[in-house]
Amino acid sequence: MQIYKVGGAVRDRLLGKPVTDIDWVVVGATAEEMLAKGFRPVGADFPVFLHPKSGEEYALARTERKSGRGYGGFTFHASPEVTLEEDLIRRDLTINAMAEDDQQNLTDPYHGQRDLEDRFLRHVSPAFAEDPLRVLRVARFAARYAELGFKVAPETLELMRQLSESGELEALTAERSWKEISRALMESQPQVFIQVLRDCGALKVLMPEVDALFGVPQPEVHHPEIDSGIHTLSVLEQAALHKQPLTVRWACLLHDLGKGLTPEEEWPRHIAHEHKGLKLIKAVNERFKAPKDCQELALLVGQYHTHGHRALELKASTLLELLQSFDVYRRPQRFEEFIVACEMDARGRKGLEQRSYPQADYLRGAASAARGVAVQPLLEKGLKGPELGEALKRERLKALKAYKESASS
Ligand code: CTP
Repeated sequence: MQIYKVGGAVRDRLLGKPVTDIDWVVVGATAEEMLAKGFRPVGADFPVFLHPKSGEEYALARTERKSGRGYGGFTFHASPEVTLEEDLIRRDLTINAMAEDDQQNLTDPYHGQRDLEDRFLRHVSPAFAEDPLRVLRVARFAARYAELGFKVAPETLELMRQLSESGELEALTAERSWKEISRALMESQPQVFIQVLRDCGALKVLMPEVDALFGVPQPEVHHPEIDSGIHTLSVLEQAALHKQPLTVRWACLLHDLGKGLTPEEEWPRHIAHEHKGLKLIKAVNERFKAPKDCQELALLVGQYHTHGHRALELKASTLLELLQSFDVYRRPQRFEEFIVACEMDARGRKGLEQRSYPQADYLRGAASAARGVAVQPLLEKGLKGPELGEALKRERLKALKAYKESASS
């Protein structure tokens, strides 16, 4: 049997990037031979094995044929006769379809190295269409390698468009889609992921609520970029530039969905878009079964981001309601994530990327003033239950009034 390093490990070595996980392909072997060597099978009818020591994936060279719709509809053909070239041709991109032996000799029948040099994400063959998840994968690679100048090849974008229009994307499971989306959002240019999905018509299928923002104007005084979709991309770009976590990036992507619902005659104003957007945010959250912390933050940022921007003008009682809504006493981190999401929203505007955002520290100060109210003295007075809750609220309101005064003097 011959063993080759394949896929991302080869690609990233050639790009001079760190290689984190290595996939191997085994040519000329049977499943029985692999088992005899101590490899552990990954699934009953999947020709992939884990190395007994390293745990790395070793796949028998295989060809795949699609036998039906959706992800279940695959038949695999793995046998010792399948050649390395036959295995590589069913892979997604030319830059992912190179193999390397233990002497670092490259097998590159589909010109992956040329595409690496020319900075193209190009599909290997029509077999690309056999897995619709690849539409998301290509968009994710575009987000990751945008900083190196990579572009999706026009013929690949066309194939992605056909796949998006065919209805195949709807067959993807929430889990597989979320894995790609969450990884893509954590790349260095997540806005490119959304842009590429939009360019090939996949955004309209996957997140029509986000797609609907493009072409919707906002008032130029606050939004020199005007277009709500462009604004959303810029907010996401800012979140990545400021190395924000996934929760914040997800909230940034969804914060303005309500603007897509404004009747045209009300443009460019978007009255109550924060509230109107909530049902859309909920729908997107649920469609991809986003983790609970992502879901919660997206809803809270959607509902309260304008409060964040107006923080310095808010009455003490409104500030208190805001802090209560976040349960800032038990979940201080979540409020901090809200603050930075608001800041990204403020900076994700054309020409305003460097603006200062005094609201952030002001909100932090308000949170710490309210959290500074001690419970112990109230307990010592014998208060409990709803009475204790009311007294705490009163004390916190007092603290916030004092805070507001000290901040304005
Ligand atoms: N592959 C594919 N189509 C998919 C998934 C994977 O063709 N839907 C192939 C590609 O050749 C890919 C290899 O399997 O390079 C390994 O897949 P994976 O580990 O998911 O991705 P990597 O390319 O290693 O990329 P990453 O750095 O994102 O892990």
